[in-house]
Amino acid sequence: MRISVIGCGYLGAVHASAMAELGHEVVGIDVDEVKIAALGEGRTPFFEPGLPEVLTSALASGRLRFSTDIAEAAGAEVHFVAVGTPQKKGSNAADLTYVDAAVEALLPHLNAGDLVVGKSTVPVGTAARLAGLIEDVGTGASLAWNPEFLREGFAVQDTISPDRLVYGVPAGAAGERAVAQLNEIYASAIAADTPLVVTDFATAELVKVAANAFLATKISFINAMSEIAEVSGADVTQLADAIGYDARIGRRFLNAGVGFGGGCLPKDIRAFTARAEELGRGESVAFLKEVDSINLRRRQRVVDLTVTALNRPIFNAKVAVLGLSFKPHSDDVRDSPALDVAVQLRGLGADVLATDPQAIENSRARHPQLSYSTEIEETLRGAGAVVLVTEWPEFRDIDPAWAATLVETPTIIDGRNTLDAAKWRAAGWTYYGLGRP
Ligand code: UGA
Repeated sequence: MRISVIGCGYLGAVHASAMAELGHEVVGIDVDEVKIAALGEGRTPFFEPGLPEVLTSALASGRLRFSTDIAEAAGAEVHFVAVGTPQKKGSNAADLTYVDAAVEALLPHLNAGDLVVGKSTVPVGTAARLAGLIEDVGTGASLAWNPEFLREGFAVQDTISPDRLVYGVPAGAAGERAVAQLNEIYASAIAADTPLVVTDFATAELVKVAANAFLATKISFINAMSEIAEVSGADVTQLADAIGYDARIGRRFLNAGVGFGGGCLPKDIRAFTARAEELGRGESVAFLKEVDSINLRRRQRVVDLTVTALNRPIFNAKVAVLGLSFKPHSDDVRDSPALDVAVQLRGLGADVLATDPQAIENSRARHPQLSYSTEIEETLRGAGAVVLVTEWPEFRDIDPAWAATLVETPTIIDGRNTLDAAKWRAAGWTYYGLGRP
């Protein structure tokens, strides 16, 4: 199948490379010249495990190329729209500028029988509006909505072997044709019996935001329990293990800590709230505001704990921050709780030195006022307190006895409840977890 992928960010670059790897002929298009030049030379503009290998192999096969010229989409039969939908400045709603621009730019290049496939996370109602635009031009092309559920850090695997496929398609013959085209594209996943839900536009759009809202709620639920554990002396990690044994609840996404961040969960729950309010049903998802508040309170809690744990005033106190990315195996610092904690501590006057295996460059671009080190050893040296905020294996594997020889005061705030508290205490550390005695 000849495919174009409009937007080559985290989602589009992975999608374009993976589709070419699956045997399709793909052109990835983006307005960012630097990004396109890098991808064309086999360099990934962000850290994503497994992507460099797939990108290199797909480029070598001759089935993948990149361009900044939208006219290159002409000739492809299926056009994936994979541009970002960030939070609008000064509002909770999603900014649809890039989606609208991508579809409008595509319109002159569409041919009869072409399928435009929305992958971006959008407010419910967007697909119907875009389908109207495509219909108005009278090219005989149609639209489908095919939400993406990939996780950063596992993006390649999630794209090639997704845990489900969702197609939102129009009624009638256009819908049938869209299903056939998508089935051809995802032939390997279909052959592997991947569950497939064929539905209407609104359901497909809502599946994506509902899934992210559920995940965010699950994390904030356990973080709310963490707050109760903190005032009652309970241990939230044991509580999570115990309730997680109930298969109806499940243990995954019940890790209490500094909370969720990234380019998806936070902005998606806000955009969902904004859209529900527009539709006159704000009360239905009003709880998501609470989910958001609980989540942001956890960042403050880590900052407060650090202030309390230091055996001296925070001003000029040396604080080592382990972690900057919003989660391990990613260099993404969008709405990162880790970076936020580092910035807040710096704002209180602490002498913050932060490290991360992948996210220093992105952090520095946003917060040049922070000090960074690529070395764990240098970061720990002389610290009055250590704050772990991203659970990279490199940090989990730190030997507490070795670390104790480097710091000024062996005090650790484990913002991800990821360390073995007993082991750290045995090595002489004062250990603080979240929601743990
Ligand atoms: C999320 C969803 O998991 C994907 O299914 C979805 O496709 C994607 O958003 C998207 O909309 O594109 P991602 O943003 O990569 O994926 O990150 P997650 O793995 O969901 O983690 C989100 C945040 O929750 C991270 O900051 C993580 O540290 C935090 N988290 C996760 C917790 O605090 N506790 C947990 O138990 C699990």
